Amino acid sequence: MKKIECYIQPYDLDTVAEALAVEGVVGMSVAEVKGFGVQRGFVRGENVKPGEFRFHPKMKVEMVVLEKDVERIIAAIQASLKSKQIGEGKIFVLPVADAVRTRTGERGRDAIM
Ligand SMILES: Nc1ncnc2c1ncn2[C@@H]1O[C@H](COP(=O)(O)OP(=O)(O)OP(=O)(O)O)[C@@H](O)[C@H]1O
Ligand SMILES: [Mg+2]
Repeated sequence: MKKIECYIQPYDLDTVAEALAVEGVVGMSVAEVKGFGVQRGFVRGENVKPGEFRFHPKMKVEMVVLEKDVERIIAAIQASLKSKQIGEGKIFVLPVADAVRTRTGERGRDAIM
């Protein structure tokens, strides 16, 4: 199992969530966060002093999926984001040690399917 964690523009949330639902993702959590990437929240061309940064509102979308589905889901997220502007988004893939469905005690892939 892997966790796909992606940071996107808030206005892209519905498009991304719909694309993920089409891919058959069975669970997802979203949170409003603030963040910055390599431009440290500034647009290109601005004179950024060392150590300066600006937070911008982002949505964090996370889902635990089977390893075999990771590349397909990444491709679906990328395809649903079309701005190709800086700050568009970033995806991280993390290992997941285990999962538990509390109601039944199912573990691992049984708990997420
Ligand atoms: N290394 C990181 N660790 C944690 N969160 C990050 C990291 N990089 C980016 N993020 C989150 O992802 C959001 C989107 O990042 P962003 O798309 O700006 O990445 P980037 O690498 O700067 O690419 P680009 O050059 O296209 O802007 C950030 O606002 C932040 O919330
Ligand atoms: Mg950036």
